[in-house]
Amino acid sequence: MQVLDLGSGSGRDCFVISKLVGENGHVIGIDMTDEQLSLANKYIDYHTKKFGLSKPNVEFRKGYIEKLGEADLKDNTFDVIVSNCVVNLSPDKKAVLQEAHRVLKPGGELYFADIYTNQTLSEKARQSDLLWGECISGALVWKDVIKYAQEVGFEIPRLVTSYTYAVPFECVQNILEGAEFCSATYRLVKKRDGTSSPGPVKATYKGSLAECGQTFQFDVFYTFKAGIPVEVPNDVASILKATRYGAHFDFEDMPGVTTNKDEDYARSLDQADPFAYAAKSASSINIFTEEHKKIFEAATAK
Ligand SMILES: C[S@@+](CC[C@H](N)C(=O)[O-])C[C@H]1O[C@@H](n2cnc3c(N)ncnc32)[C@H](O)[C@@H]1O
Repeated sequence: MQVLDLGSGSGRDCFVISKLVGENGHVIGIDMTDEQLSLANKYIDYHTKKFGLSKPNVEFRKGYIEKLGEADLKDNTFDVIVSNCVVNLSPDKKAVLQEAHRVLKPGGELYFADIYTNQTLSEKARQSDLLWGECISGALVWKDVIKYAQEVGFEIPRLVTSYTYAVPFECVQNILEGAEFCSATYRLVKKRDGTSSPGPVKATYKGSLAECGQTFQFDVFYTFKAGIPVEVPNDVASILKATRYGAHFDFEDMPGVTTNKDEDYARSLDQADPFAYAAKSASSINIFTEEHKKIFEAATAK
C-alpha cells in the first residue's frame, strides 16, 4: 500500500500509517517547512525500530501540495492520500485536489480532514493573521470543494465526520459576517473504469477488513454489518466497487429497480453537506479557551 500525506508536519500521521502499512507498504510525507521536515526525519529511526521494520517505510520530502510533480511524485502512484488540517492553508485548493487526483491510482482515495465554511469569507477575515492561525481565514467553502472534486475527476465526496466548529468570540463576529465553520472529513474517490453501476445494488460486507472487523463505517450514511445486505444507490455502489473495499463486499444487482439519476445526484450532494449533518447530529467541537479569548480581544481592539 502506497500512502501520501499532504502537509505532514511533524510526521505524526505518517508514523501511524507506517505501522498500519507495515513492511510491504510505503509512506511519503510532503511538507514545505524545513523545521517540520527536520523534526519528522529525526524520528524515522525510532519508529522503524519500534515497529520492528527491517528498513524505514516512511520518507519525508520537501514540496508544495499544489505542485507534487516538483517533489517527483508521478501519476497513478498512491492507493491512499491523507491530509489533516492543511488544505485550508493552501492559496489554491483546486490545484491541491487536481494534483492529488493525478498521483492517485484509479480507485484510490483522498481521505482528508479540514475546516469548512458555508460562505466566501470577507477580505478582512481572509487577511487576518489571527484567524489564519486558527485555520479559519483559509477555511474551505464546502460547496466549492464538492465542485472542484468533480471537475478534477473524483466521485462526489462522501462525508465521514462533521462537527460544528464554533468561534465563540463576539469580538470577531463582525469580521466573520455570519460565516459558520465546521471540522469535517471526506473520502474523495478517483473514478475507475468499469465500476460504474447502472442502478442500486445490494452490498453485503464480508467482515474481512482487518481494521474494522464485523462493522465497517463507510461514511455518516452507510455503516455495514458483516453478512447483512444493504441497498446502496448507483453512485455509492460505483465508489465501493472502485476502491480497495470492493473485494470485501458481495454485490447483487437489483434488476427491475430503476433510479432517477438526477434525484440520485441531488441526494448525494445533500449528503455531502457538512453543516446539515453536524446540525442534525448536534456534534460540535470547541478548541477555543479563555486564553484565546484574551488574544482575540487584544488583537481586534487595535
Ligand atoms: C496545521 S499543520 C498540520 C500538520 C499535520 N498534518 C498534523 O496533522 O499534525 C499544517 C502543515 O502543513 C504545511 N503546509 C501548509 N501549506 C502547505 C503547502 N502549500 N504545501 C506544503 N505544505 C504545506 C505546514 O508547513 C505545516 O507543517
